Amino acid sequence: MVSPTTRRAICGRVGYAAAVQSKPSVKQYWEEAPPTDFEAFATVVESRRSVRRFADEPIPDEVVERCLDLALLAPTSSNLQCWELYRVVDPAKKQALVEACLSQPAAATAAELIVAVARIDTWKRNARDILRHLERDVWTWPKSMHAYYSLITRIAYDNGPLGLLGPVKKALVSAVGLVRPIPRGPTSRAELVTWAVKTTALACENLMLAFRAAGYDSCPMEGMDEERVRRILGLGRDAIVTMVIGAGRRRRGGVYGPRIRLPRERFVKTV
Ligand SMILES: Cc1cc2nc3c(=O)[nH]c(=O)nc-3n(C[C@H](O)[C@H](O)[C@H](O)COP(=O)(O)O)c2cc1C
Repeated sequence: MVSPTTRRAICGRVGYAAAVQSKPSVKQYWEEAPPTDFEAFATVVESRRSVRRFADEPIPDEVVERCLDLALLAPTSSNLQCWELYRVVDPAKKQALVEACLSQPAAATAAELIVAVARIDTWKRNARDILRHLERDVWTWPKSMHAYYSLITRIAYDNGPLGLLGPVKKALVSAVGLVRPIPRGPTSRAELVTWAVKTTALACENLMLAFRAAGYDSCPMEGMDEERVRRILGLGRDAIVTMVIGAGRRRRGGVYGPRIRLPRERFVKTV
């Protein structure tokens, strides 16, 4: 009979089982980087265009759901997943949404309409749920991760009732910033909105590339009445409508012209 101590000692040398049973510091997570096809990815990126007219053809349900799953794999600030994607399928809501999108053809002809919403009010709940994950995972996360989700996120993203703590935080970080690097925000509602919208926009790009990779197309729209969209979805003011994405099968005339990009040197700087 092998004693638990001996078993732990043996396991300590043989990898995963060891990770589960032995000292926390032994558990080291490793994920293979599978081979990828750069040219296939480039084709997806290069052939994604904003398509304004779609064929009268549905996108199979499983394709849409898979694309939504891929959208949620976008990187997210502090992994707080401050996004929501509303796939609008109810005909009355869809019609109202088309009108809220100013009846743009990209909305009116789309087989699918997805509203990407950034949330500035869900980070506390999500931080709590991530903490639960950390606690029940077999992998030992560094202690700093626990501290991050139980404390640091509060300091970083909580501006107190009515945002009253924001100016105090701003003064503090400005003072500390004089002597050492420190993240400067978000210290106001506006900065929190920017924070959430950044992450949500990344999910949007994932979604549009996913549609393209599946053979379909999309058009992002911010030409819409955000207030009306919020009302259609029954959302409050902490839900920031980031964009509406129309998707479907590209139709002749759906791409208005060749892609225009200004000179690369204007945008890419090597310093
Ligand atoms: C945030 C955002 C909002 C946009 N809103 C609209 C819109 O309301 N209507 C529209 O037809 N295109 C919209 N577009 C598409 C842009 O016009 C398009 O991306 C741009 O002209 C470049 O063309 P390309 O996407 O084919 O490369 C939007 C794009 C982005 C990123």
